[in-house]
Amino acid sequence: MFTAFHLPKLCPTNIIAIALWVVSGFFNTAGAQFTTPAPVPPTLSGNTINLTLQNGTQQFYPGYNTATIGYNGNHLGPTLVLQKGQEVTINVTNTLGDTTTTHWHGLHVAPVNDGGPHSHIMDGETWSPAFTVMDNAATYWYHPHLHGKTLKQVVKGAAGLIIVQDNTENAIALPRTYGSDDFPLVFQFLTFNNATKQIEMTDDADNAVLVNGVIQPYLDVPAQVVRLRLLNASSHRFFEFSFSDNRTFYQITSDCGLLNAPVSMNRLMLASGERAEILVSFAGQSGSTLYLKQLGTQLPAGYPGGPAGMGMGGMALGPLDNTDFNLLKMNVTGPTANAITNIPAELVQNTVWSSAGTFIRNITITASPMMSTTNFFLNGVKFDEEVINFTAIQGNTEIWNITNQSMMPHPFHIHGNHFYVLSVNGATPPANQQGRKDVITIPPMMGSVQLIIRYEDFADPDMPYMYHCHILSHEDNGMMGQFLVLPPATGTLPQNPANQNPAATLYPNPAAETLTLQLNPALLTFGKIEIFNTSGQPVLQQNITQTFTVLNIASLPSGLYFVKITGAGITSTLKAVVEK
Ligand code: C2O
Ligand code: CU
Ligand code: CU
Repeated sequence: MFTAFHLPKLCPTNIIAIALWVVSGFFNTAGAQFTTPAPVPPTLSGNTINLTLQNGTQQFYPGYNTATIGYNGNHLGPTLVLQKGQEVTINVTNTLGDTTTTHWHGLHVAPVNDGGPHSHIMDGETWSPAFTVMDNAATYWYHPHLHGKTLKQVVKGAAGLIIVQDNTENAIALPRTYGSDDFPLVFQFLTFNNATKQIEMTDDADNAVLVNGVIQPYLDVPAQVVRLRLLNASSHRFFEFSFSDNRTFYQITSDCGLLNAPVSMNRLMLASGERAEILVSFAGQSGSTLYLKQLGTQLPAGYPGGPAGMGMGGMALGPLDNTDFNLLKMNVTGPTANAITNIPAELVQNTVWSSAGTFIRNITITASPMMSTTNFFLNGVKFDEEVINFTAIQGNTEIWNITNQSMMPHPFHIHGNHFYVLSVNGATPPANQQGRKDVITIPPMMGSVQLIIRYEDFADPDMPYMYHCHILSHEDNGMMGQFLVLPPATGTLPQNPANQNPAATLYPNPAAETLTLQLNPALLTFGKIEIFNTSGQPVLQQNITQTFTVLNIASLPSGLYFVKITGAGITSTLKAVVEK
């Protein structure tokens, strides 16, 4: 089981253990050394899909039976192929002997169908979400999401891909013959116990990488343009993908859809939870071999998998950190009939939502103690299943400013609703991050990301969506929050314990002389504000005629006050503390 606080990182036993890994672990016994084919997971499609979560065993190392979890098999799961606009019912049966959930990562579904930590599937039970596929063509995935056990179940193999197809994508000349010129590739850094080869429920010293469940496999690819659907399903580490001949390739999707145009690159970083589809041309190269590689030395310092960073203090690197090594051998075979040989010039037109008048939400990541690499907070708090961290309104667009005051990067993920990245550290994001996304890395040490998100559908006053760090040990340790999407402008907003809700923000808190009320004009038109003391007596009333209203509270004694805001169609109550 994962423990919240790791051992001090510089103790001599760690150094010895790492030396042993390097000598006897990865380099000598790591499976088949590119002689086993990378399995292509089977597909499931149609209106009814049945998935069974089961315990199994798998031989990752010859002669060792490793305990695993899979969907419909011993390890990993089938690829679900869904068409935009179709109806689907997915029956997920749990035979694990333990509670679980199954989350459709990246799909725009109602909170009740999302499979987050509230949607428990007890052992022996079946959970059957039914929904319309509303997403654009891209590669999504599914995995368990039980709070505190996500890492444990995902590292043992409970993960599978979802391919969504649509008419727009179908009309573009792209490789799309699954297993022939279109390959799913699931990458997972894992920690195998050096003696027993069992998967350890930790992530700080990963010592192997599985590609579609195999250590060092090979893949035969035809001599033409090939599509690779890359998923980083690791609990923790980043990939910096490249090819052994440093060839150029083209990213065509971000997490949740096609980019405007293929983005040419020779290195691609993917954080835990992120996906990218890339096009690589092997045209005319029949008979050659090359490798897909991890360039750990090229990751930014302090990124898991890369060189040591400032905040890591004495934390030892894992045996595969800050090194470059081959992940997958690729043998180029003859071309198929009707081979795609060109990289398209354009793909789709992504239109970023207007940010005019949107509500600004601020999220700050902190660590405790400040140098901790395991214990993180979002806006000062940890996940509590009973606490809704904020509410949003269906139909609204919001800007989230996420600031990282910790020493580590965090891949930040939002459930159910896609976003566009407006800036990273104040600058326009690179072209490959300008499409629809659901995971974005917040750089360390006061790094910041501004994103714009729209809650198009699925108001539900009871069931929340999650937002969290996709480093699974951080998530399991409470680096997660939840929000409700409420119906547009109906009645009373729930009272928020903080001095902020989607309609208005009050500051400073506590206040002494003046209190400023900032309205979200998209939500609340002008009306009136009333302040009540704790015995319910009105102590101040004022009309609201502009977005910012400054209230003179010099005469109010110290204490707690309730601030009631009434606008067109909405009443909202906030708390304010006056302190002299
Ligand atoms: Cu892939 Cu909330 O997770
Ligand atoms: Cu998700
Ligand atoms: Cu994190």
